[in-house]
Parts: sequence; structure tokens; C-alpha cells
Amino acid sequence: MELAKTASVALALILFASTLPAFSVRAVAPPHSAAQQRRANVEPRINALIARMTVEEKLGQLQQLDGDVDGSFRAEHPDLVRRGLLGSFLNVRGAKRVNELQRIAMNESRLKIPVLFGYDVIHGYRTIFPVPLGEASSWSPADAERAARIAAREASAAGVRWTFAPMVDIARDPRWGRIVEGAGEDPYFGSVMARARVRGFQGADYGDPTRVVACAKHYVAYGAAEAGRDYNTTDMSETTLREIYLPPFKAAVDAGVGTFMSAFNDLNGVPTSANPFTLTEILRNEWKFDGFVVSDYESVKELMNHRLADTEAAAAREALNAGVDIEMVSRLYNKHGAQLLRENKLSMNTIDEAVRRVLRVKFRLGLFENPYVDEAREATEILSREHLRAAREVATRSMVLLKNEREVLPLAKTLRSIAVIGALANDQKNLIGSWSADALGKTDNVITLLAGIKAKVGAETKINYAKGCEIACDNVDGFAEAVRAASESDVAIIAIGESAEMSGEAASRSSLDLPGRQLDLVKAVQATGKPTVIVLMNGRPLTINWIAENSSAILETWFAGTEAGNAIADVLFGDINPGGKLPVTFPRHVGQIPLYYNHKSTGRPPDAKNKYTSKYLDVDVTPLFPFGHGLSYTQFRLANLQLSAQRIRPDGRLTASVEVENTGRRAGDEVVQLYIRDVAASVTRPVRELKGFERISLRPGERRRVTFTLTPESLGFYDREMRFRVEPGAFKVFIGTSSVGGLEGDFEVADK
Ligand code: BGC
Repeated sequence: MELAKTASVALALILFASTLPAFSVRAVAPPHSAAQQRRANVEPRINALIARMTVEEKLGQLQQLDGDVDGSFRAEHPDLVRRGLLGSFLNVRGAKRVNELQRIAMNESRLKIPVLFGYDVIHGYRTIFPVPLGEASSWSPADAERAARIAAREASAAGVRWTFAPMVDIARDPRWGRIVEGAGEDPYFGSVMARARVRGFQGADYGDPTRVVACAKHYVAYGAAEAGRDYNTTDMSETTLREIYLPPFKAAVDAGVGTFMSAFNDLNGVPTSANPFTLTEILRNEWKFDGFVVSDYESVKELMNHRLADTEAAAAREALNAGVDIEMVSRLYNKHGAQLLRENKLSMNTIDEAVRRVLRVKFRLGLFENPYVDEAREATEILSREHLRAAREVATRSMVLLKNEREVLPLAKTLRSIAVIGALANDQKNLIGSWSADALGKTDNVITLLAGIKAKVGAETKINYAKGCEIACDNVDGFAEAVRAASESDVAIIAIGESAEMSGEAASRSSLDLPGRQLDLVKAVQATGKPTVIVLMNGRPLTINWIAENSSAILETWFAGTEAGNAIADVLFGDINPGGKLPVTFPRHVGQIPLYYNHKSTGRPPDAKNKYTSKYLDVDVTPLFPFGHGLSYTQFRLANLQLSAQRIRPDGRLTASVEVENTGRRAGDEVVQLYIRDVAASVTRPVRELKGFERISLRPGERRRVTFTLTPESLGFYDREMRFRVEPGAFKVFIGTSSVGGLEGDFEVADK
């Protein structure tokens, strides 16, 4: 459940400790722990340091520069560190290098302020987990936390103590390639995942040298880019901002996130890297966030492209005054800060406050006491067997069975022959997705689907592999071989989808169709009449109508990481029963976008019998696969919905529960989902809103009651005066296994 809006970071730390799974509870700091002592003691130390700093040294703490892709630093960097003109790095990594630079900071700089090393450790450092959208499909915060914890372990072993993650942008437009980096379209779901990932990276105290400080990004509304085109304008009501885009950021603050990243987009006319309303009024004043904000890559300089600033100095002034503390890569604070001070366009107080926030995080990381990384850790921790096992397990839990007609899946391990077809079937490079951190270019140990299948079946099973065609290619010369492979086999598995670089940053698409001739390949293979299984690998929802209609089995595997092939084989052959669900809506056609489950009703809801209603002439209004959808190799029955009350007060709570039974023959997981509908209100409300979910495992025949609690936080909304409140009136509750259907209940919120 959401924490109280005013909860301090300390309170949040104590509260979320109670929700931690057993393995991390031990790490929770008792009252008066070293961590709390350190926190209490740092403020005087920060002030003492600031009193000794020159303006140049202060601006140095606000500067972040980029290393090379391979993790090395550039020729000018050591000297900048020595002179105290560089406070943090991105991309520089590797224990030796980090220690080398840190030694310069600690031994040769005047004030001995440690430098901070940041990196995009998004879904793993070297052991790569499923892309975040995939991981979110597990609907398992514990798995997201586990993956982030391991990423933190590996990154910190390489000297990286700050990750530019989690990305908590809500995305309702799959054309936007960065939808792959987040947790999908829903603010409640996104908030749960945001908290889990922050906990996973930071633990209870990111001063632990095996932890990293997290960064909630991209603040804010970056996912609302007009037309799904990356970096594009965003424009929305304050209600939409507060109800859809802000909640995961607030959840990250409640979980104690140490840093934020401002975004590239402008929001309602003010770029988010120079927006005092979001950066200061909401983040600092309302939410009491006391960490620092880093700009996105050159987003301070880009204020000139936005035409908010006509000079470099004006760009620096706008960003710093709005509340962007560290400038990533561009150097305008450094170049123009002193001049701006002299001209009274920037106050020393503003600079000091920014420096204070940066130093606070460095102190909390324990860098002043413990600036160096233990160089022995890198060899033992990175790609350890335990990490690879976790990557495989999380990957299996991330997969979504979209369709399984006539129980084509799971496959028997004793089949005589299997055709493995498709551009992605024997691919290592793409399986690690678009943010592959230190694994980029080091994919030798990535398990392909072909390798995973071979390892799964016995020597008696013949594997007939044929690529068929490239991902985005016109050439169909390979089709004949693929058709032959299928004809000679008992079953065909076709791995199709996108390349990793078709999603992620600067990877918007105007079409969501399968690229190239892959659909034709599927048609050709299916024409053999052999049972066919479609394995999707992609970073966004795709419009796969033909396949949804004509293929018997579809497994959505996203980009499943280092252990992808093993994990997919685990699921295809039934060692693991899939239990993932979609965290995003799959549209039928790109023209339906934005299409999301929690839409408003409209005055003329779609009605097939009435022309003058809200719909399309050429495509159904419903999605191809709804938010929350996902099947299992077993079946579940939900029954006996119970509410703890028929009527509650606006400040009251209510529990809603349902009995879930595994009625099939296999053990399996179901994600039980609770949605509410405010029947009538002073502002229009969504048709449904997710307010609770739980992934449970049941043996065949096993039955369990799952209970959810609804609080004022779940039932309230922003009214016409932008006050968050619970309005009296009727509510509906739906508990089901996707955002469509389910059992229904009713209750009422009384006047008082
Ligand atoms: C991206 C961020 C990333 C940063 C540093 C930017 O281009 O938008 O998500 O953290 O680069 O690599």
C-alpha cells in the first residue's frame, strides 16, 4: 500500500522494512544504527566542507563527464579530478580504473572529496536479466528486487556506486521505444515496481559497499512524448500528471531513492530540466526529497534547442535555479556559473544547496570513509553461478503465455524432431536487450534459444535449425530451408520479433508490425500443417493479429537476458509453468494508440449497434491482448468474492478477498488482480483502476483465499481544485486474472 504522503525517508525506510522478503529483512538497520548515525552526523560535515570550497570547486561537484563505452576515462579527466573540477562520472567503470581516479581525488585534490561513478545498470551489469518491461511481466516485485540486488552487487564490484535506474516512466504508447525500459502503462503497478527496484538496488542503506544508489528517471512525463516520437513534447492536465505520471516517482521517494534524473522533454511549455514546478515545488517541497537531481545527457544544453534559453549562460541559469543539481556531460554550469553569480542571476545559496545535495549522497554512500572498491570482488561476483541461476529463474517468471490452443505447450522432451526457426533462434546479441551495460559486445556466454532447446532435450531428439530470414530483411531465399526443416519435424518453434536496437532510446517506430518478412516466414512454416509455437522476442507490444488468430501457441519472452535460451526452454518443455502477465496493452492496430485499460468512459461508449458512438470504422476498439493478460498450463477458478463492509467512511479501509483454486493438473502461478471503478464522481474517472495484485503458486486442487486492502489512497483522486480526496458514492470492485472480466462486488463510501 502507498505510504502516507508526508512520510519522511526515515519513516519510509522503517515501513518498507516490513514488506521486505525474508532474505533482506536481516539487512534492515535497527534504530540508532551506524547508517542513522551517519545520516545525522553528515550535515555539519557538509557545511564545514562547503565553507572551505571555492566557487570553482563547488561547480566541480555539479559536473558529470562521460567516459568511453569500454569503461575507460579520457585524457583530461585525471587532471580535472585533481583540481576538484569534476564530481562524478558516467560510464567509467572497472575496479582498477575507478580506484585510480579515486586515489587522485583522495590524495591529490585539495579537499579530498571522493568522486562518484554512475552507470546505466538497468537490468543487470554483466549478468543480464530480462529487459525491465519483461521483468515487470512477472508481476512479481520480489523478482524485480532480486534482479536489482544482483545488478547492484556486480556493479559495485566494478566500482560503480550509482545506477541510472529505475526508469519509472509510465508509457501508454508502444511506438515509443523506451517503453521497454519501464514497467508499462499503469501508475499503481509502476509504483509497486519502482519501490521494489529501488529496494533492490539500495537495500535499507546504500552505504553498504555492495549496494548502489538508485536514480528515478526520467522526471517527468517523458513517456508521454507526442506521437510516440522520442524526446518529443508533452502536454497534459495537472490531473493526468499527478494521477498517471507522478505516482511511480513518488513511490521511489517513499522507498528512499537517493537521486533523480530530469528528462529531455518539455512539459506544458516548460522543459523538465528547467521546471521549477516539478523539480522544486513537487519534488522538494511536497515530497521532501533531499537527494540530488542530475540532468539527462546534455539536457541542460538542450534548453537552447527547446528555445527556453537563447544563450548557454541562460540555459545554466534556468536549470540550476529550477533545481537540476548536476549537469550531465554539457559544461554550462562550469563555464558560466561564476559569471551568473557575479551578475546576481544565480545565488550562492542555490549553488550551495545543489552542492549540499551532492555531498549528502556521497556521504550516505560512505565514500568519504570508504572511497575504494575491493578489487578482488570483481572476479568472484561478476557472472557468478548464483547470479546466472537467478537470471534464469527471473527470466522464466517474466514470460507471458499469450495463447495456447489445444495444449500445444508444453512440449514433450521425447519428441523425435524439432524445427527451430527464425532470425532470433540462434542469436546472442539481441537477447540481452537495449541496455546491456557491461555485457555489450560480450555476448559469448548468452544462451540462445537453439542452445537452450538442445540442452533440454535428449540426444535422440533431432533438431533441425533454419534461420529462414533476417529480422528486418526482404530476402526470402531462406524460406525453403525453413519449410523443409518444419516438414521434417514433429513440431516447429519459430523465434521472431525485433532486434534489441529497435526499442530503447531513440528507437521509436511508426509501425508495430513484425519487421521484415517474418510474418511471411510464419505463414510459410504454418502452411506445412505442423504444430507451431511462436516465441516472441521484442521490446514493445506488437500488432500480431494474424499470428494471434492463426498460430496455436504464442510465448512472449521479451529480451530475456544472458540465460534467455535456457529459461525459454524451461517454459516450452514444461519444467516451469509460465505465470507472467502483460503490463501493457497489445493493440490490434497502431491507429488505436494510445490504447490503455484505464481509459475514461466517454459520453458515447462504443456500441456496435449504434453508429454514433466512440469507435473506429475499420478496427475494433478492444485490444488484441488486454493489460494483465497471461495464461498458464493449468487453469484457475476464482470464486466467492467477499468484502469486509458494504459501506465505509471516506477515511476508512476495506478488505476484498477471493478464493482461488487450481483446477488443472499442474502446479502453477496465477496473478490475482483487483480493480476498482468509481461509479460516479465530480470528475470523470477511469473505467477501471488496478489497486492490488498478488502472484500466487498453487498445486493442483489447492485453494487459497487472496485478500487485498483498499485504503483512502486507493479510492481517492484529484478533484477539480486539485485536492486529493475520497468522494462519497458507489464503487465497484473487480477481482480477476486480467483487466477484463472477473468477479464483481459493490460498496459505498458514506458521507462521513
Ligand atoms: C538517457 C538516460 C541515460 C543517460 C546516461 C541518456 O541519453 O536518456 O536514460 O541514463 O543517457 O547514459
